[in-house]
Amino acid sequence: MDEPADSAIYENCPVVSEESIASLAIFDPDVHLAPCAEPPSCIDMDELGLGSVGISKVAVSKPFPLFTLEGVRRIREELFKHETLANHIFSDTLNPSTVRGMCLDRTSFIKEAWTHPEVKRRINEAAGVELDIIFDYEIGHTYVGSKEEIQPTLMVSPNWHKDSYPFVCILMLCESSHLEGGRTVIEKSDGSQFFADLPPIGHAMVLQGGYILHAVSPTDKMQERISMVTSYRPSDPLKEDISVLRTVRTMSDVRELHRQWCQYRLKVLARRAEVLAAKLDDPAFDGRIEDEMAKFMIDQGEYMAHTWGEMIRPVASVKTNLRETYLAWKAKDMEAEESASSSEDELESPIDARISAQVAEGQKPEEVTVEAVPNIAVFG
Ligand SMILES: [Fe+2]
Repeated sequence: MDEPADSAIYENCPVVSEESIASLAIFDPDVHLAPCAEPPSCIDMDELGLGSVGISKVAVSKPFPLFTLEGVRRIREELFKHETLANHIFSDTLNPSTVRGMCLDRTSFIKEAWTHPEVKRRINEAAGVELDIIFDYEIGHTYVGSKEEIQPTLMVSPNWHKDSYPFVCILMLCESSHLEGGRTVIEKSDGSQFFADLPPIGHAMVLQGGYILHAVSPTDKMQERISMVTSYRPSDPLKEDISVLRTVRTMSDVRELHRQWCQYRLKVLARRAEVLAAKLDDPAFDGRIEDEMAKFMIDQGEYMAHTWGEMIRPVASVKTNLRETYLAWKAKDMEAEESASSSEDELESPIDARISAQVAEGQKPEEVTVEAVPNIAVFG
């Protein structure tokens, strides 16, 4: 059988251009968004004895479907790219292994997934309030509990905390039915604990975590637990915003974090000023302008002082250097791969060895057919 010429071999193959590879990043709701389900039931703040604190009556939702398995696969693919890990793994004394801050330019699929209008709608519906993503740096903050070497420490005691931002959406990126621990535990006002359901893979839950003391139930078992968190603030600029930065500064590219923090704070301030300007412009307004301005000045002065304070206040946690551990591990891994492939190149196949021996003994070397060569790719 004649072997086809090289050009003929590839004639019918689809052309994969750089543009078509880039297009693979596009989030397609028909493929990546889980089918719509009933709005999830929720536990209210009242039920936890937390009364009227917060920006919504919802404390935590039951898990609800958000992304398909293919959507999860694409998210994980972008998340665990070497380029993402090499630039965005962070760790501190409270967070042993976190990947975050990669949505500015490295993980377009993850950004498209979280900013899709239907995803926003489902999260707002579960939260019982209109929310906006706090800023891009906080899209897709991922906790990685892994069986692999990139996580050298285990979380063996609960890390009780309130989140940095008013609301979070927690998405499960691994099979969770077999997990030990790993559930969100909430402390009620009477000191008892409420264990939230563990979301199945591709499912999410919302938590008003900025107002609720909570932890992840601990385990000493080495197991894969990967959850992705995106953080939210109220869309209404006049609602309370308790956001803080000091809990994330040790796990961030601080310059980029501060840039996005300042932009968001200034935009909220500008929207508040617009609301007041419109109020004073309203012919129906009959209050004292001086009182309005005094209140605005005091409230927004506090708001901006808080903005500044979060950029300079000391933090409780200390930065650790998991990224260096990862890069050293990766370098060794690549070195091992390279030496394995070069020694493979050097190895003579049994057929080559036989032919070499035949030539050395002055014999005519045997004919080599395609069928005689193991693992050869045959096209056609
Ligand atoms: Fe949390």
